Amino acid sequence: MIRIENAIKNYQVGQTQVHACNGIWLEIPDGAFVSVSGRSGSGKTTLLNLIGGKEKPDSGKILIDGVDINTLSDKELSRFRNEKIGFVFQSFLLEPSMTALENVELPLIVRKYSKEKRRRIAKEILEKVGLKERLDHKPGQLSGGERQRVSIARAICTDPKILIADEPTGNLDAKTGGQIMELLRSLKEGRTFILVTHDEELARSAPVQVVMKDGKIVSKEGGV
Ligand SMILES: Nc1ncnc2c1ncn2[C@@H]1O[C@H](COP(=O)(O)OP(=O)(O)O)[C@@H](O)[C@H]1O
Ligand SMILES: [Mg+2]
Repeated sequence: MIRIENAIKNYQVGQTQVHACNGIWLEIPDGAFVSVSGRSGSGKTTLLNLIGGKEKPDSGKILIDGVDINTLSDKELSRFRNEKIGFVFQSFLLEPSMTALENVELPLIVRKYSKEKRRRIAKEILEKVGLKERLDHKPGQLSGGERQRVSIARAICTDPKILIADEPTGNLDAKTGGQIMELLRSLKEGRTFILVTHDEELARSAPVQVVMKDGKIVSKEGGV
C-alpha cells in the first residue's frame, strides 16, 4: 500500500517558489492501476518522483508498506528503489553507449547478481518484450518503440511490486504507443501500476483516475 500524507514539494528558482506538489493526500492499495493526468506543470512528475523516492518532500510523508521512505538512509533508499520500484520514462533514459542487454542488466548489477544470472534474466525479459533479435543493439540503433521496450524490460527485470510510468507513450506515434500500452498492461500482473498520461482516453481506461492541477489532486474517481 502506498500512502501519501500531505506531501509538499516546492522548488526555488531564482526569486520564485514553485509549489510543484502542494498538499497531496493519496492512498493506493496494492495491485491498483491508477492514472494521473492533468496539464503540463501540474506536478505529475514531481508526485511520481516522491513516490519513487527520487525526491524528498519538504514536508509530509510517503509511506510504502507502512515505511516512511524519507526516514531511510541513502543506502536503504537505493535498496528500496531497486527492490520495489520500476520506472519507465517518456524519454526512455537508456545508457546510449550500452547495448539493450547491458541496459537491462543495470538494476541487476546493483543487486550484485553474477554475470551469468544477469545475462539470463535480461535475455529472458528482452525476449518477453519482443526484442529477442535486438539484444546487442545500442539505443541509437533502435526505433522509439523498441527503445521503450528496452526501458520497460529494465524496469521489470527486478520484478518490482510497483511500476511507475511517466508519459510512456509521449514520444511515440499513436500506433506504437498503443502497442507499448498493451505491453505495459500485459506486464502489470499483480503489480501496482501508476501511469501518468496526457491522453484522456488512456487516463479513463484506468480503474482509478487521479487528476492534478497546480500541485494538488483535484479529483479522484473510481476505486479498487
Ligand atoms: N527540478 C525542478 N526545479 C525547479 N522547478 C521544477 C523542477 N521540477 C519541476 N519543477 C516545476 O514544478 C512544477 C511541476 O512540474 P512537474 O511535476 O514536472 O509537472 P508535470 O509532470 O505535471 O508536467 C512545474 O511548474 C515545473 O516547472
Ligand atoms: Mg511530467
